[in-house]
Amino acid sequence: MWHAIIRNPTLRTPDSRLPTHMKIAIIGNGRMGQAVAALAAERGHAIHTVVSSRDNAKGSALTRERLAGADVAIEFTRADAAVLNIEKLIALGLPIVTGTTGWSSELPRLAALVRARHGALLHAANFSVGVHLFLRAARELARSYSARPEFTAAIREEHHAAKLDAPSGTALWLQDQLRTSDAQRSFPIASVREGTVAGTHTLTYESPHETVTLSHVARDRKPFAAGALLAAEWLPGRTGIFTFDDLLFGDSA
Ligand SMILES: NC(=O)c1ccc[n+]([C@@H]2O[C@H](COP(=O)([O-])OP(=O)(O)OC[C@H]3O[C@@H](n4cnc5c(N)ncnc54)[C@H](OP(=O)(O)O)[C@@H]3O)[C@@H](O)[C@H]2O)c1
Repeated sequence: MWHAIIRNPTLRTPDSRLPTHMKIAIIGNGRMGQAVAALAAERGHAIHTVVSSRDNAKGSALTRERLAGADVAIEFTRADAAVLNIEKLIALGLPIVTGTTGWSSELPRLAALVRARHGALLHAANFSVGVHLFLRAARELARSYSARPEFTAAIREEHHAAKLDAPSGTALWLQDQLRTSDAQRSFPIASVREGTVAGTHTLTYESPHETVTLSHVARDRKPFAAGALLAAEWLPGRTGIFTFDDLLFGDSA
């Protein structure tokens, strides 16, 4: 019998010293907020509070009183709400993990606020470990194909019909990374919104006679919830701006 042993020496495994019982404030009670809350409870954390849109117009629920005693906030809302939510959470000095997409143009301003207050913000358009390894493989593929002009390259992303932003934050991030590996190609993105697809990203190289594809398929939201929770366990005690890459790969990111 043939056994394959695959090891990735640079991928960090969850740290056994991570806190196991935290009080987590969840901002946004949608699909991701609920997935994170369910997993947090399974892992022995307490849900300090869940802030939904109903009581949080213009971030009005994010007060010192409501969040007193919370160790960390996990924010999954929508682009137009996230910026104000993050501003309020920075002012309260709470470590913030956010997975909301579509607000990256505001990142430099919010990062400056975090630094000025010696706060902590970890943001990621995608909290799946598999996607981060997929991205590394995609960058490698782009380097290999950069000297092969007979191939065209394209990105396709598919998500459920209720997803608001397109292209997805992950597709834009993938495109940006691929352009760094191969500046000759633009890597156009096609977006599909239908059904209940949790998230599929595919990089395709095509010549007239052959096709090469690299895909990541999320079958449900668990990988995203698990990654966000891992980030919430990792962030308290640190100061600065972080991405999920910092947690997973540290200096080798
Ligand atoms: N980073 C990742 O790994 C990852 C994975 C999946 C999704 N996402 C992103 O995460 C975000 C949320 O995704 P989702 O699937 O959970 O969407 P969703 O099901 O639509 O949930 C968003 C929730 O945020 C609520 N909300 C809106 N404004 C709010 C406010 N000011 N305060 C509190 N809650 C507010 C919405 O309430 P109403 O419905 O009442 O407006 C809704 O319940 C999106 O940007 C998505 O692209 C990221």
